[in-house]
Amino acid sequence: MKIILHKNKIKKFLENKKNLGFVPTMGGIHKGHISLIRESIKKSEYTVVSIFVNKQQFNEENDFKTYPRDLKQDIEKLKNLDIDVLYLPNHNDIYPNGYNKKIKINIFSKKLCGKNRPKHFEAVADVIERFIEILNPKNIFFGKKDMQQLLIVEDFIRKKYPFIKVVACNTIREKNGVALSSRNFLLTKNDINTASKIVKLIKKNKVKLIQDKKFKNNLKKELYKFGVNKIDYIEPLDVNKIIKPFRKKRNFKIFFAYYLRRIRLIDNI
Ligand code: PAF
Repeated sequence: MKIILHKNKIKKFLENKKNLGFVPTMGGIHKGHISLIRESIKKSEYTVVSIFVNKQQFNEENDFKTYPRDLKQDIEKLKNLDIDVLYLPNHNDIYPNGYNKKIKINIFSKKLCGKNRPKHFEAVADVIERFIEILNPKNIFFGKKDMQQLLIVEDFIRKKYPFIKVVACNTIREKNGVALSSRNFLLTKNDINTASKIVKLIKKNKVKLIQDKKFKNNLKKELYKFGVNKIDYIEPLDVNKIIKPFRKKRNFKIFFAYYLRRIRLIDNI
């Protein structure tokens, strides 16, 4: 695995390399990332993984500051996976002339996480576009755990870069049901127990949540009893009816976002 810090170097390295798979990350590497990387290696001739904590997409300074960063440990986890390049750009490499304030993305960006995190998805699309321009990948890999991000980025790429395929990879969960996420590194044992109880409760009540709109208020009360600090949303949505072109088959998921102490967790079941 080659480690490259600058875009001119990576562009040069990738010259004439056509079948490229790209796995964007913000570090805090876990088994979810590793499953995306394995999928990329399976599907592509070359795989590039990036670690870049994209300040622009954080709405709170504290969330950005406390985001799990352990480059040494990340490299240790990545080095034997058959990755061709680990790209570690700095802010200037990605944003030499500042952010793109005019980026246009799907209106779904205003819902769910977008309500509490204005401009978050614009910032994600902006950084992904920067990487696309530098790397020119054939496939980009995203996890279904961040389903809203996946749908918005997929739509953005389909419209602007139709020759690039977004590959959606399944959520990886601990045995206790908790979805893997870099933010889990910030959780205590007690938090993890609570997160596990929440996933199980929502899973058990999925059908009720879809059929009875008022039921989510009862469920919220239960979550607060578990010790949840704040709930941003619990929302049943048909994934296949959110962004056009709609698919015929129904695929309901319960989208939810909540805080354990100051740590915000999202998932969909
Ligand atoms: O999902 C993430 O880790 C980030 O949003 C991404 C896609 C790497 C963009 O910064």
